[in-house]
Parts: sequence; structure tokens; C-alpha cells
Amino acid sequence: MDVQSFAADLSLTPGLDALRLFLHVAAATIWVGGMFVMLGLVPTARTLGPDAPKALARAFAKLSWPAFAVLVLTGFWNLAALHAESKSMSWNMVMGIKYLLVILTGLAAWLHGRASSKAAMGAWGSIAGISAVLALLAGVLLAG
Ligand code: HEM
Repeated sequence: MDVQSFAADLSLTPGLDALRLFLHVAAATIWVGGMFVMLGLVPTARTLGPDAPKALARAFAKLSWPAFAVLVLTGFWNLAALHAESKSMSWNMVMGIKYLLVILTGLAAWLHGRASSKAAMGAWGSIAGISAVLALLAGVLLAG
């Protein structure tokens, strides 16, 4: 029995689709999950010294930005594989909202990294986190 028919027998996602979704979801766990981990670690990092939160954020950026790039690339792969043009109006509306959320989370995370005041850092960080969670929710709705 070949891999395709084995997957079909067990109602599993077949080969390339599984790879596409795996890469998209794995990158989403790093982008979204990493933000929650940072939120949890920053209060402890502050007790280790004034530069510790910044050092932690710089280290996270080396993981989060490549993950964001993978999300965008595999996102377009998803669109091509699903033939978005043949999907319903509501599916395409959720996709449109998701585009805005993806732009917002990316832009807010970038501004968060460049903010000089605590207020701006908090505001952009919150916007980046909330829009990332909503993009995740939109993704799950799109996957049906
Ligand atoms: C912050 C960025 C993003 C996050 C957190 C995210 C998250 C997700 C998640 C969790 C899923 C559900 C996968 C599943 O349950 O199988 C998904 C699906 C999907 N995403 Fe994203 N995504 C992001 C960016 C993008 C981008 C930039 C695009 C398009 C250019 C995109 C297009 C899609 C499509 C079309 C699906 C449905 C895939 C399918 O059913 O085969 N995503 N996304």
C-alpha cells in the first residue's frame, strides 16, 4: 500500500497537504506561542537586570521573524492549494480579514521592537499579540 492510499484509508491529510499545513501551523505556534512565552518571562527577566528583557526580546526576534516569513510563504501556498477563487463569499471575507490581521500583527511587532517609551512598547506589544491570536482564529475558521 502506498503512502497516499494509507493516508486515505485512515482519513489522514495526504502527503504535500500535510507538509504545507504542518509548516504553516508550526510557524504559527512559534509566532503566537512565542509572544505568550515572552509575556510570561518578561517580569522574571526584569528582576535579572535592566538589560535582560531587551536581550530576551532580541533572542526571540531571531526565531519569530523567520517564523513570520514561513507563515506568509506557506499562507500563499495554502491559497494556491485551496483555489481561493472557488471558495464561498464568507470564506473569502474571513480571508480578507485575516490579511489585515497578519499585516497588523507584523507591523505592530515591528513597531514594538522599535518603541522607545514604555507606553508605546506596551501598546504595540498588545496589538501584536491580540491580532496574532485573531489571525490564528481566522486560520482555524478557514481550515473548516
Ligand atoms: C500571523 C500569521 C498567521 C497565523 C497565526 C496563521 C494561522 C493559521 C492556522 C492556525 C490555520 C489552521 C490550519 C489547520 O487547522 O489546518 C491557518 C490556515 C490557513 N491560513 Fe494561515 N496563518 C497566518 C498567516 C497566513 C497568511 C499570510 C495567509 C495567506 C497569505 C494564510 C492563509 C491561510 C489559509 C488559506 C488557511 C487554510 C488552509 C487549509 O485549510 O488548507 N495564513 N492559518
